[in-house]
Amino acid sequence: MKKRILKIFEDKGILLDPGAIDELSAAKDAMKCVDAILSDPERPLVVTKADVQYYLTCQPVKPKATPPKTAPEPRVALPSIEAEPGEIRILKDITGDSTCVGNVIDFAKLFNDRFQTLKKILARRRELAGMMSIDRARKIQKDVRFVGIVNDSRTTKNGHTILDIEDEDDRIQVLIMKGAKKGMDAFIKDEVLGIVGSLSKDGELVIAKDVIRPEVPLNNSMAPNGSNAIVAFVSDIHVGSSEFLPDAWNRFVAWLNKNPVAKGIAYIIMPGDLVDGIGIYPGQEDELSIEDVYEQYQEFARLVAAVPHRIKIVMMPGNHDAVRLAEPQPALPKEVSSMFDSRVTFVGNPCYMEIEGRTILAYHGRSMDDFAGNIPNMSQMRPAEIMKEMLRRRHLAPIYGDRTALAPEQRDYLVIDRVPDIFVTGHVHRCAIGEYRGIKMINASAWQGQTEYQRMRNQVPEPARVPMIDLGTGDIWVEDFSSS
Ligand SMILES: [Fe+2]
Repeated sequence: MKKRILKIFEDKGILLDPGAIDELSAAKDAMKCVDAILSDPERPLVVTKADVQYYLTCQPVKPKATPPKTAPEPRVALPSIEAEPGEIRILKDITGDSTCVGNVIDFAKLFNDRFQTLKKILARRRELAGMMSIDRARKIQKDVRFVGIVNDSRTTKNGHTILDIEDEDDRIQVLIMKGAKKGMDAFIKDEVLGIVGSLSKDGELVIAKDVIRPEVPLNNSMAPNGSNAIVAFVSDIHVGSSEFLPDAWNRFVAWLNKNPVAKGIAYIIMPGDLVDGIGIYPGQEDELSIEDVYEQYQEFARLVAAVPHRIKIVMMPGNHDAVRLAEPQPALPKEVSSMFDSRVTFVGNPCYMEIEGRTILAYHGRSMDDFAGNIPNMSQMRPAEIMKEMLRRRHLAPIYGDRTALAPEQRDYLVIDRVPDIFVTGHVHRCAIGEYRGIKMINASAWQGQTEYQRMRNQVPEPARVPMIDLGTGDIWVEDFSSS
C-alpha cells in the first residue's frame, strides 16, 4: 500500500512527508483520501500528517449533488446538477452537539480549533509556502512566514501598527508600517492571519512585508443548476414589539398568496429575532405589545400559519429569541417548535444548510456590532461591507470579550470552513444585497419600525423588504412591502 501511494503522488509531483505516508497507509479509507488530496486544487505544497488527518475527516456524508467535503477549498464550479426539490439538508449546526461546560480548558479548545482550521486554509496560500512556527521563525533571522492569532493590536504615536501575534507555543510582535499596502490594515482581536516578514536582529520583532488573510477563493459563481425554486429571506420579525409592522407583514403574506412571482417561492429562511423577547435591552418593557415570550411565539405561529403551506420555512434564533445568548446558539426548544407545523425546520445560529444543490450559510449577525465598533469606517448601516470582512477572515465572530458572547465549545462553529454560495445575515434591520468573489450576500431587513433604543443610537431600520434568490440561476432581487 505504501509503495502504491508513493507512486501515485510521485507521478503527480506531489511531496509527502514521512508522517503523512504512515498516516495514509494506516487509514481505512486511504484511497478515498488520496483522491481527495489529488482533486483539491489548493492542496498544500508538501502534504503533512496533519493534512492527511484533515482530508480523512472531511469525507463527504453522501457523495451527491454537492461540492465534495473532501475538497471544500475552493468550491469547484459545478456542472449542471440535479436539484432535489423540497430537501433542506443541514450541513453544520450546533444543535444537539453542544459540549461546553464553561471552564477555562474549553475556551482553550475553542481557540485551538479556530487556529488549526484557519491555519489549514492559510497553508494553501502560495505566499505562505514554507511557513513555520513562530518559535522556529525566531531562530531563522531572515525572511519568515508564519500563522498566528491576533492577541492585541495597537497604533504607535508615529501611526505604525504593532500586532501581538501568537501560535500554539510562542508569541511575537509584528510591526506594520504606516501606509503599508492595501489589506495590511483593520486588524481585530482574535482573527487568524498569515505574516510574511523579516526578523529584527534581536529576534523580538517581525517587520511585516505582507499580511495574508484566510480569504475565500476568487471566482465563486452559481452556475445554473436546473432548480426552479426561489428562496425568500425574512429576518428580525420581532413579534411582540409595539413597533412590529402588522400592515407590512399582511401585505407580504397577501403577496405570497396571490402574486405569480410568489408561486416560485419554495423556501423562506428566517435568520433570527423571530420575536422581540423580554429583558433584552434596558427599557424594552415599555415597547412591548405582548409581555410574555411564549405568547409572542404563539402570535408568530398564528402569522406564519397564513403563509402558503407549500413553502418550507427555516427558523433560526437571534439575540432576542428564547435560547442561550452565547453563540453558537442551538435551535429553539420544543416548547416553541411544537407551536409550528412540520414544514418548519428549526436550526441553530449559525447554520450551514444545502437546498437544491446550493450551500447557504445563515448567521443572525450579532457580531456586526463588534465589527462596526472595531474597524474604522464600518457601520451597521452597511451590513454587506461587514459581511465581506467576515468572509475575508473566514470567521463570523472573531472577537472574544466584546458584545458577542461566545460559548466555549470544543469546536469553533463560527469559522467559515466551507465556501457558501449564499451568505445571509439579519440583526441590523437593513436590507442589503451584494456579492463578494461570487458569493451572494444578503442582509434580510426587519419587520419592526425604529425603537426608542435604536433612535438613541442613530440606527435607522429599513424594514419590510424581502430579498429573494433564484436557486437555479443565482439571480437576486428585493420585493418591497414597506408601503401600500
Ligand atoms: Fe433584530
